[in-house]
Amino acid sequence: MAILTKKVRGTEDVLPKDSYRWQFVEDIMRKESSAFGYKEIRTPVFEHTKLFSRGVGETTDVVQKEMYTFDTKGGESITLRPEGTAGAARALLEHAIYNDGLPVKASYFVSCYRYEKPQAGRLREFHQFGLECYGTSNPAADAELICAAKSIFDRLQVKNLRLELNSIGCPECRKKYHEALKEYFETYKGELCETCLGRLDRNPMRILDCKSPVCSKIADNAPKVLDFLCDECADHFEKVKAFLDKAQVEYVVNPTIVRGLDYYTKTVFEFVSTDIGAQATVCGGGRYDGLIEELGGQHMPSLGFALGIERLLMLLDAQGIEIEKPATCDIYFASMGENAQAKAFELTQLVRSASLYAECDVVGRGLRAQMKYADKIGAKFSIVIGDNEIEENKAKLKDMESGEQRDITLGDEFLTQFYDALFDKQNPDGLKI
Ligand code: HAM
Repeated sequence: MAILTKKVRGTEDVLPKDSYRWQFVEDIMRKESSAFGYKEIRTPVFEHTKLFSRGVGETTDVVQKEMYTFDTKGGESITLRPEGTAGAARALLEHAIYNDGLPVKASYFVSCYRYEKPQAGRLREFHQFGLECYGTSNPAADAELICAAKSIFDRLQVKNLRLELNSIGCPECRKKYHEALKEYFETYKGELCETCLGRLDRNPMRILDCKSPVCSKIADNAPKVLDFLCDECADHFEKVKAFLDKAQVEYVVNPTIVRGLDYYTKTVFEFVSTDIGAQATVCGGGRYDGLIEELGGQHMPSLGFALGIERLLMLLDAQGIEIEKPATCDIYFASMGENAQAKAFELTQLVRSASLYAECDVVGRGLRAQMKYADKIGAKFSIVIGDNEIEENKAKLKDMESGEQRDITLGDEFLTQFYDALFDKQNPDGLKI
């Protein structure tokens, strides 16, 4: 029988046998970001389109080419979020979270949607973990944010990750820089792609991250933004670097990083790996001092980053970093007959109430098939319950690995006796009171 349909191109399933890897990295992200004072925010998967066109920027690839936008039955234009920053900023304003004291620190796990050409490490639905910090222009905040990202990579023992750092200045430095870029790109007018021609007047900086090979080759020799920073932005950048030096965080200044989204100002950074192919940026972010105002709020200098979870997992794989497998079943209750199935069901619930992992037959299979299943799920112990066992209120507890058996009472004593057996298995030479 052919299945009705397969997954949509550019999407991935996370299967039950693999989800522990996601849970493990998500756990580390939660723990590390909590230590930096971040609390989770959850926002909707879709927003009004104008949030992204204004927030992310009309001249970006994301807004011009990649958004999943549709009209609702009520005629509203809605977009599936292509990233997490705009939605979090919208929620900050809508709920006036900034009144809770600045800086506000928000973390998130989001699924994102971009209509890009799928390839290894580039999906149409992907997942990000992000941090956003609102209400500080101080360079210590930039360094602290970068340290938070690094602490996640360190905790996961990721190697060979390069932190690339740049400053793209404020709107003031940007004016001079745009003029220089325009002058440079004007000379290549005949070669630029259609989209970049449109960007020439409106936002020539966007040409720097165009994915077309011709445009990106031309962009290689374009003027560099660091040469156009005003005194304040240059000073800010020096201080960010000094804080990073203090924290012993290694970085390289890469004057070609401009990031693909319009809201950035001053510090921008990326964590890049050579181990995962062309889509090498695992984490990217920076300061966005103008975004909150752009969305209708007060002036509120802010900053953040997002880390691509699929790319991070690819990296762990590529570096052979193993993740602890989830706990296997502590005990499987096999049963023969209806009465025995009821008893097995009752005992399974008892074991689960002690937060142990127990299973019994819920398929109605024969004994052999039940034992085969117990083996498949890696049960540590098993018990076979039949009419005799019920009558005697006693059964054999079998260690599935060694084959050893011991008697166990099926009544009130069951849990205590089972704990003993588990303890003996896990600590064969352990002391017992
Ligand atoms: P971004 O650089 O567009 O930044 O995305 C951040 C990360 O998401 C990338 O470094 C990458 O790991 C992952 N990513 C992006 N696109 C894809 C894709 N098509 N497939 C798989 N992974 C992908 C942002 O989204 C900003 N909102 C980051 C930020 C937060 N800046 C300030 N605050």
